[in-house]
This record gives sequence, structure tokens and C-alpha cells, in this order.
Amino acid sequence: MNLIVANDYADLSRVAAERIAAAVARKPDAAIVLATGNTPMGAYAELARMQRAGAFDATHIRPFQLDAYLGIPFDDERALYGWLERAFLRPLGIARERVVMLPDGAPDPEAACRAYDAAVDAAGGFDLAVLGLGPNGHLGFNEPPSPADAPTRRVILTEASLNSNGPYWGGRDRVPREAITCGMRHLLAARETLLLVSGAHKREILRATLYGPVTSDVPASLLRLAGKVTVIADAAACGRDDPTWRC
Ligand code: F6R
Repeated sequence: MNLIVANDYADLSRVAAERIAAAVARKPDAAIVLATGNTPMGAYAELARMQRAGAFDATHIRPFQLDAYLGIPFDDERALYGWLERAFLRPLGIARERVVMLPDGAPDPEAACRAYDAAVDAAGGFDLAVLGLGPNGHLGFNEPPSPADAPTRRVILTEASLNSNGPYWGGRDRVPREAITCGMRHLLAARETLLLVSGAHKREILRATLYGPVTSDVPASLLRLAGKVTVIADAAACGRDDPTWRC
């Protein structure tokens, strides 16, 4: 696992966008699973800027949704798909038909999860995973504990996730209790992974991810068993001002 320490959030976003653009330049039809959440927003905006300047071309990429709240229609503005559409798909001119989506309230979520995993397999696995780090070490909504072979599935959100997502929903009690997440199995098999981490509030969980035990209790720590993983963290997340920090 490589660690890049960015000076600040703008630097993190630029470095991440350049890495994504490089992966797509190597393989224009790359299968890419994409997080929402706050952290990758700057990178996605930078990619849109690069595309306008002719330095990036999203025409052929194959985007995969990473996670979804169960029971929230995909076109609800609070749905994670809606967020992905506003932040990534629309600015890059990617039509919905090209996206492998997760079910929102499908009548049979389990069958829909199997269909999603089959679509990832049919794509030959992910070429690139763009992930954020949950406050409890979750990746997507692979809440702790999530074993390395966890499939795409329905999950119950933990207290930490309800709290961290509360601000997006106007309060913790309004956050949906269940979600669907792409499983650890496919995420860990990605040929390249970028884990983006920003802010002092991520310091402890970043430290656990990089240097703590490799354990399903911190799902992100399992990335240390995976192939080509690059953590791009800003100085605030690394705690450069903390003399005990080893960045
Ligand atoms: C969202 C997702 C989540 C977030 C994580 C960090 O699609 O996959 O795992 O990446 O909760 O969220 P932020 O970036 O808002 O701190």
C-alpha cells in the first residue's frame, strides 16, 4: 500500500484526478467503481475541468455504483446514485444506461445483489476503485465487521455511519437504517485502488487503516492484503503536526 501525503484538500483532489485520468488513458473502457461522500467531490470536479480542457476523456469508461440506501429511489436527491449523477456522471456527460447501478428498493434486493456481482464478473472485475474512508473504517457500506470475501449485499448501518451521514439527512434519526453495498470481495480484487482521506477527523481511523491490525473490524485495513492500493491523504488527515505520526 502506497501513501501519498497531499498538502491540502485541493492538492489531494488534483493528485486523485490525475491518477484516475492516467488509469483511463491506459484503459479507456476501464470498469470503475466510484464512491460518493464528500471526499472525492474535488477530484470529480477536477476531472470535469480536465475533460473540458481536453486532458481527460470519459467517453468509454464503465462506471459502477458503490453503494445505495435501501428503499430510497435512485432519483431521490438524497440517494447516493443521485449524488453520483450530479457530481460525476452529468458533469462528464455519462448516460445513465452506461452505469451499473445498485438496486434502491428492488422487490428482491438479494437477487439484485447477485446480478450486480455477475455484472462485475462479466466486466472482468474492477480496473479501478475510487473509495473514501468511513469514520469506522468502512469502505462503501461494508460496515465492521466485513470479511474479505463479503459479497455485494444488504447491510444494516452502524451507529457510526448513522451519525456521520446524519448531516446529509437533516438528523441522524432520518438516515435510512439499511443499505446495499458492493462487497469487499470485488473491492479487494480491483486492479488499482485509490483511497482518498481528508481532514483531521479521519486521523485515527487512517492510522488504524495503515498501521493497526489487518482485521475485518476495520474493513479498510484489509486493503493492505490487496494489490495496487494508493492512499491519498491530506496533511490534516495524516496529522503532520502530531509528533507521534509516522507519515
Ligand atoms: C459513499 C461511500 C462511503 C464514504 C465514506 C466517507 O459512497 O462509499 O464509504 O466514502 O463514508 O465519506 P466522506 O467522504 O463523506 O467522509
